[in-house]
Formats: sequence, structure tokens, C-alpha cells
Amino acid sequence: MMLAGAQIVDEQSVAYRPDMSGTVRPSASPSHAPTPASPLGTQGLRQTVAKIPNRDPVDIHFSNITCTVSLGINKVLPPHYLIEQSGCSVKNRGVKTEGQKQILHGVHGRLRPRQLIAIMGPSGAGKSTLLDVLSGYRISGVGGAVFINGRGRVLKKFKRMSCYIQQDDRLQGLLTVGENMMLAADLKLPTKLDKYEKGEVIEDILTNLGLYEHMNTSAAQLSGGQRKRLSIALELISNPLIMFLDEPTTGLDSSSCSNVVELCRSLAHQGRTIVCTVHQPSASLFALFDHVYVLAAGSCLYQGTTANLVPYLHQAGLPCPMYHNPADYIIELACGEYGEDKIEYLTNKAENGRDLSWFEEPEGIPSMEALRKQYPLSVLKEQDSGPAGEETSQSNQTSVLIKRGFKKAKRDSTMTHLRLVVNVVVGIMLGSLFIKAGNEGSRVIENYNLLFAILMHHMMSPMMLTILTFPSEMSILIKEHFNRWYSLGSYYISITLVDLPISIVSCLVFSIIVYTMSSQPLDVVRFLMFFAISLYTVLVAQSFGLMIGAVFNVVNGTFLGPALSVPMMMFAGFGVTLRDLPPYLYWGSYVSYLRYGLEGLIGAIYGLERPTLDCNQAKYCHYRYPRTFLKEVAMSPDMFWWDVLALTVFVFVLRTAAFLLLKWKLKAVR
Ligand SMILES: Nc1ncnc2c1ncn2[C@@H]1O[C@H](COP(=O)(O)OP(=O)(O)OP(=O)(O)O)[C@@H](O)[C@H]1O
Ligand SMILES: [Mg+2]
Repeated sequence: MMLAGAQIVDEQSVAYRPDMSGTVRPSASPSHAPTPASPLGTQGLRQTVAKIPNRDPVDIHFSNITCTVSLGINKVLPPHYLIEQSGCSVKNRGVKTEGQKQILHGVHGRLRPRQLIAIMGPSGAGKSTLLDVLSGYRISGVGGAVFINGRGRVLKKFKRMSCYIQQDDRLQGLLTVGENMMLAADLKLPTKLDKYEKGEVIEDILTNLGLYEHMNTSAAQLSGGQRKRLSIALELISNPLIMFLDEPTTGLDSSSCSNVVELCRSLAHQGRTIVCTVHQPSASLFALFDHVYVLAAGSCLYQGTTANLVPYLHQAGLPCPMYHNPADYIIELACGEYGEDKIEYLTNKAENGRDLSWFEEPEGIPSMEALRKQYPLSVLKEQDSGPAGEETSQSNQTSVLIKRGFKKAKRDSTMTHLRLVVNVVVGIMLGSLFIKAGNEGSRVIENYNLLFAILMHHMMSPMMLTILTFPSEMSILIKEHFNRWYSLGSYYISITLVDLPISIVSCLVFSIIVYTMSSQPLDVVRFLMFFAISLYTVLVAQSFGLMIGAVFNVVNGTFLGPALSVPMMMFAGFGVTLRDLPPYLYWGSYVSYLRYGLEGLIGAIYGLERPTLDCNQAKYCHYRYPRTFLKEVAMSPDMFWWDVLALTVFVFVLRTAAFLLLKWKLKAVR
């Protein structure tokens, strides 16, 4: 087994073998000999100097946070609307009749440094929404204020010290753990560090997170707990001061749950503020949290230390029954199982999060003013001197993303291998169906059908492939872009460049097969014209697919892609010739890229003063003279360069539109 600590810096330098106890150890250790994957725990993390934040921990205060969403077409919900999930029902107090719904009702709170904070509450209480707001991920429909060390939050600066790990692990499944980490390090660590220094940071993090011996496992093959830990590891590379995690324990068994929570606890105690949402933790898991923030229907029921929850409930006259997990009990209360009035009562008691008396040392909590004095602006000036946008330059981001793109493309069975196979198979099928049709005067119409079928293939397969695969890429893009790994521009350039060689190769293979099998004129210039138009059609179709994939989900995209392609076919000049199009619909032929594709292919095959065709398979060949045929289909043979120009404009316009739509989407999801 070849394990990978070394792979980070040199794939050949270290070979690993399992020792007698089954633990993996290096057989030739590098200078910074990695210890075997240590179990998760505070001990290991404390020893890790590289990961201790180099800035003072921050104190977060949020005040009167509201979040309102538009209900879209479901403008009015029935007044008795209930949220019913996880067996508990809560009257949705946030429903408004003017087409908007309020999810968070002016909640307040304080997130103290070096604490692991749990946001708890029944399903639909607004936990994820609060986390979205606090992390700065959600910006539309949000009211209230967030203060960092006593000063209003500046989102750009805040994002530099925080990260948000969403519930679904958005990882590059085709890359191994080590590759994922190395690419993240290349994007997030200063470029002046060499690969050995970056490797050290990675080894350090992976060892502490118990992922070291999975370095060579692809992210798609990791277990749920390992995926969650990898998500955390990737963000730890930039050493954030504040980490937001949405349901890091959901879907994990109890031991993985406590592993993840223990890890978060250790990271918090190193000097970070870690905020997680959790669903009904077990008593032992609950005890691992330092602090709890309980939400019910968008209001705060309790805020304070884990240990103070039971005394709080006791004082409120709602004592937690003996042998009852306090976490379960507060959720039951928040669900309204003991009466809806209890929610209102506890919200009032906790002053919707204003009451800090249940904190560990309430009298020691500094005021906003004291915090401002503690962190004067002159100190902040030094700390804020880093890059305003992403950590590394655009050129570095682009080159790292191109490297990642090619690595993925090499392993991607759909985007690369299947695409090539489909091109070969469809090429052979079309070639055999229209075998030797290209030179025969009696089969010109057949050949014309073949050219249209080729266009259909070049339109549908790249477009559908993009529509089906891009939405899953999109979720990773949203996460990585939000966490400042790279800019959208770098990402867009990289996907464009990475896909180009694959498109060229697939299109070339297809063109050679079809062209030769169907006996089109053996002339290099004609073949190159044929190939150029085919490739342009692929690029336009792909850009069209990208526009749809950037905006719509797979279901809507799968419907819209082919549906929007129908007018393109209608106006291509096939079936109804351009001459026969009604004048009021003629504009359609200008916006149909298939029209230029078809005209270009006909120009390549029948243009350039093509001589008279053979007439071996029939007594009379009506279209023996290419000019007769060109007149019949109302296409000019000498429009090739205009067609190329039109298709170039299409590629440029659609690619730009797809970029702008992506940019809009990245904002709209927030
Ligand atoms: N865009 C939206 N439009 C309408 N309602 C929304 C929207 N986003 C969230 N909600 C509603 O807001 C409420 C809170 O959602 P949120 O995802 O924050 O709950 P949660 O506490 O995280 O629940 P869970 O534990 O199930 O993840 C839910 O009732 C949800 O349906
Ligand atoms: Mg949630």
C-alpha cells in the first residue's frame, strides 16, 4: 500500500506499509516523520503549533436579527399553516399574508471566543437560517446587526477570518483526500510557501483529524464522518478564527458524532469561535458543547452554558425531569409538546437572546465599548493588511484550477470517457446508416439528412451533458467561492480551457469516422471546414447548456434544454427552407445557430465549386450537379466565413451570458 504523506511533496519518496498492529507507518520516514493517525482529541491538536490561529479570538454579538423570505408564487399560506417535521409541530408564527414569511424574529445573542457553541432547536426553527446570517452567507431579506469585537461587521473582512461548512459535504469526489488538500493549500496558502511547507501543514491537519491514512482514498469513497472531517480539514488550511458548521453530526453514528464534536471542541479551545447547528444530541454529546443557543420558531428560548440549562429551566418553573436528557427536554419544549405558551414564556424569559446571565461569568462579559478599547483601530489596521479578495493571485488560482480540472477530467467517466465513447459509437452508427452517401448523386438528400443529424448530435450531447453535470459542480463552486478559495473569473477561465481539448478530441474522432464512412469528398480543406463548423456547434451548444445549468436545477434544465432547442431546429433551414420561411418569422433564422451550422456544413461539402457527383446507384440523379441541390435548399455555398463569424459571435455572446448568469446566481443564492 502506498500511502501518501509523501505524495504531497513527492510521489516516490516514501513508501508505507502496515505494521503488525495494523496501523500504517512509514517504512522510510521523512525528516518530519508523521506519527500514525492519532485518534481525534484535544491532546493531538494542542501539540499542533501550525494550526493555532495567529490572531486574537473574536467576540461576536448579534442584535435584533430578522430574516424574511419571499414566498414566491405561494403568496398566501393558510392561517393554520403548521410545520410538521420530526414528529413535532410548531405553529408557524412567521407567516405573513403579504407574500412574505419571517423566519427569524429579532433574535439577539453573544458568541464568546474559545467556545464551541451549539445552535439547537426543532426542525424548521431557523437554525440554518441563523447560521447563514451569522456567517454572512445570507444577505437578502436580513435585518439587524452583527458586531465583531464591538464594531459593526464588515463582510469582506469577516470572510477573511471565518469559514462556513454547509450540511452537505461539497467535495471534489474524483480527487483523493491528499489532492483535495493540496489544491486547497495551493489556493489558500501564500504562494511563497513551497510544497514541503504546504505539505507540512496538510500532514499536520490530516493527522489530527484522523484522515492521514486515507490520504489516497478518493473523496467520493470516504464515509460520512470522514467526509465531514475532510470538509473541516479543507477549511482549516486557511486557519480561520471563526467556523460555522451546519449539522456536522447529522447522518453519523454516535462514535463519529462525538469524534467530530470533540474535534470542534479542541479547535475552539485553541482560540477559535465554533458555531454548529445540531439536532437533538445525546446527553454525552450535549455535554461536549460549551454553550447552547436554543431556537424555536425563529425566537431564542435559551442562551447560556450547557451546564446552566437545567438550572435555567428549573428557575423558569419547567424543571427537567429526572433521568431526562436536558437537550431532549428543551427540544420538546421548543416543539410545543408542553404547550405553545411555554415557547412564548421562555422567549420572554431569555429576552429573545438579550439575557446573558446564564453565561459562564456573566459579569466578566465585556461591553461593546470595552471591546472597542481592547481592540483599537490601530491594531486592526495591521491585522487587516492582507489581500482584500482571495488569498492568492488570479493567475495562481487559474493555474491551480486548470491543474485540478485536468486531473478530474482524466478520471471523469462521464465528462471524458463516456463522451469519447458516445462520439465513437454515434459516429459509427451514422457512418453505417449513411455509408457512401457523400459522393453519390442519387443520395444527396440522404447526405443532407446526415449533415443535419450530425448537427443534432453536436447540439444535443454537449448541451445535455453540461445541463446534467453542471448543477452538482455549481454547489461546490458556491461553497468554494464563498469561502474565498478563488474568484469566479479564474474558475470560469479554467473550466473553459479544461473542456476545450476534450471537446476538440471528441469532435475530431467523430468527424473522422463519419466523414470517411459516409465517403465525403477526400479533400483536406473540405474536412477542415467540416470539422471547424462541427466544433463551433459543439462550443455553442455547450455554452447554451452552461447558461441553463448555471441558472436551473437538473430537472428544469433537462426540460428547458431540448425545449429551447426546438426553435433552433425550426429556423435552421432544414425541413422548411429559409426561402419558404414566412417573412414575419425570418428573424428566427438569424438567432438559430443551427442555421449557420447547416449552411457551413453544406458549404464545406457542396461548396468550393464541387464537381459533378457520381451517379452509380440510379439511372437518373436529380442532384448530380451540386448547384441544383444548393438552389433547392436555398443555401449559398460561399457563406462559410460568414457562418464562422456568426458562430464565433454566438460562442462569445453565450459564454459571456453564462458568466454573467453564474455571477448573478452566486449572488441570488444568498
Ligand atoms: N427561501 C425560503 N422560502 C420559504 N421558506 C423558507 C425559505 N428558507 C427557509 N424557509 C423556512 O424557514 C424555516 C427555517 O428554515 P431552516 O432551514 O433555518 O430550519 P432549520 O432549523 O435549519 O431546520 P432543520 O433542522 O430541518 O435543518 C423553515 O420553516 C423553512 O421552511
Ligand atoms: Mg437546517
